[in-house]
Amino acid sequence: MTEIFMAGPSVTEEDANFVLDAVRNGWYGKQAYHYVETFEEEFAKYHNRNFALMTPNCTTALHLLLEGLEIRDGDEVIAPDCTWIGSVAGITYQRATTVFADIDSEHWCLTPESIEKAITPKTKAVIVVNLYGNMPDYDAIKKVCDKHNIYMIEDAAESLGSVYKGTRSGKFGIGSTFSFHRTKTITTGEGGMLLIDDEELFNRCKFLRDHGRQPGSYFNTEVTFKYMPFNLQAALGYAQFKRIDELVGKKRWILNGFKERLADIPDIFLNPEPSHIVNGAWATALVFGRAHGMTRDKALNKIPKLGFPVRPFFYPLSSLPAFNQDVKGRKNCPVAYDVSSRGINLPCALNLTEKDLDLYSNGICKLLGVN
Ligand SMILES: Cc1ncc(COP(=O)(O)O)c(C=O)c1O
Repeated sequence: MTEIFMAGPSVTEEDANFVLDAVRNGWYGKQAYHYVETFEEEFAKYHNRNFALMTPNCTTALHLLLEGLEIRDGDEVIAPDCTWIGSVAGITYQRATTVFADIDSEHWCLTPESIEKAITPKTKAVIVVNLYGNMPDYDAIKKVCDKHNIYMIEDAAESLGSVYKGTRSGKFGIGSTFSFHRTKTITTGEGGMLLIDDEELFNRCKFLRDHGRQPGSYFNTEVTFKYMPFNLQAALGYAQFKRIDELVGKKRWILNGFKERLADIPDIFLNPEPSHIVNGAWATALVFGRAHGMTRDKALNKIPKLGFPVRPFFYPLSSLPAFNQDVKGRKNCPVAYDVSSRGINLPCALNLTEKDLDLYSNGICKLLGVN
């Protein structure tokens, strides 16, 4: 039996040749940032955005945007309780405060009601996360943000290829951010992208990205970040981006493959795909219905004993020592605590085969005692 991996990319010889070209030729003059600039331009165009900035990862893309929006000490930013810590780390870097809001029981993203409840006079922005490629009710969330005059930020780290009512993920709010981590749909190893429409904000973020200087100048007017991308990473990113339909297609094949194989098990829930949404399916999450008596922690213990890898559904961030707000979190975000306690991630590696999906799905049946 070949090993089944939780996550990992698909890298072809042709992709490698782009990187080789950057290694061989990408050092002098215009060539030095050729792949960075090409990748940024094409990525922005694909998402119908005016501007893109490649960054070392998605965490830094979000941080850059928060500083660009002048969100700092004393400000509050609302974010979903269930997400990866990278969604919110930038808020802490800025010495601002993260206010956790609850998620929806079906799509596992923020709800407009939970955002509205969390708003205070100090709220400056909400970071909306498209968890597992799912998309929340953006129309209603946008209305809440407009009503209260707060920025909407889209963390699209997990939603490359997702579409909401005909609009690609990456177009929602003042800025959208992507991750090209090794585990993501397109990879640069580590890497990220910030998409923006507003020219002034773009220029400010570009300035903040490179030590507070204008491009080509050695005259620094502020001490800022060094969040510059590198041409070799961008060469791989651009090569992978050219394959976006194939790679998102494979992710969707994995999600749908699990859905078909597990369709006969009642009372389990995988990434939903209502008719107004296309799910980019970065990773498949499975939430056990209460009838099974199966929890995340029991599954994390039992699945490896069947010889398979597994990962937990995102923990509520408020429950983690990093934030230490368990009591408040349980009160304000009961759905996040409940869903997370019953959820796991299934493998999403881009090298998964039909046989892997068969074997893993049989493992889930065994776990739940169904045939
Ligand atoms: C929802 C979400 N936001 C942010 C990040 C951070 O991305 P990166 O690892 O590129 O910093 C991730 C990464 O896993 C993520 O899943």
